[in-house]
Amino acid sequence: MREIPCHIGFIMDGNGRWAKKRFLPRTAGHLAGLKALKKVILGCIKEGVRYVTLYCFSTENWSRPQDEVNYLMGLFSEKIMGELPFYNENGIRLLTLGDISVLPEDARKALVEAVEATSANNTITVQLAINYGGQREICQAVNRAISEGIMEITPEVIRAHFDNPEVPPADLIARSAGEKRISNFLLFDSAYSEFVFCDKLWPEWSEEDVTAVIDEYNGRVRKFGGLKQ
Ligand code: IPE
Ligand code: IPE
Ligand code: MG
Repeated sequence: MREIPCHIGFIMDGNGRWAKKRFLPRTAGHLAGLKALKKVILGCIKEGVRYVTLYCFSTENWSRPQDEVNYLMGLFSEKIMGELPFYNENGIRLLTLGDISVLPEDARKALVEAVEATSANNTITVQLAINYGGQREICQAVNRAISEGIMEITPEVIRAHFDNPEVPPADLIARSAGEKRISNFLLFDSAYSEFVFCDKLWPEWSEEDVTAVIDEYNGRVRKFGGLKQ
């Protein structure tokens, strides 16, 4: 039987290269990437995936040119609320992952409002990883535990102190645009993830690509350190 991963993480890479190929500014690639993102979410819903994490902006992405950073922040503030009908019609519950407190006020506010406005949806949960870094996520969880007086740090304690502890570890991590690295994404929750790397640039992704990565996942044997069942 075809197995559907409960949680897929997407490293959405290649927006800049997509734009460059078309002699467009990098920002045009990010806008096209947003359209692909909606198709991928719909593909995940069709397949019955319960949780999706989308890597939108890393803790390292602040080092990009200021106008590109500003454009991405503008996308968060201007597009999210405008897409509310899309989220609500499709039963999409939004969560944020990462430290959004340092985002420009309008972006932060739009994200908080979108999370609130979609909180009753229950077809799929989509975590938007924004100003997210896996190393910082682990340190932050440890620091939260310390501040509660917890004396012994265990994997369970760390998970319990994540932003959204109810989201299970990623079964599958898919990365577009050919790079074969994790780039500080879900370091803790990828311990036993399957990885699928695709050459296709992110703005070219659509629903069928979700089916393709799930097909590849189905060819894998997951053992979690044990023996094949
Ligand atoms: C991914 O596309 C989007 C973000 C990191 C925000 P890139 O912007 O990294 O695209 P490339 O890698 O330059 O093609
Ligand atoms: C990873 O892509 C971050 C996001 C997709 C948001 P990058 O383009 O920033 O990663 P590197 O720099 O190629 O590792
Ligand atoms: Mg990139």
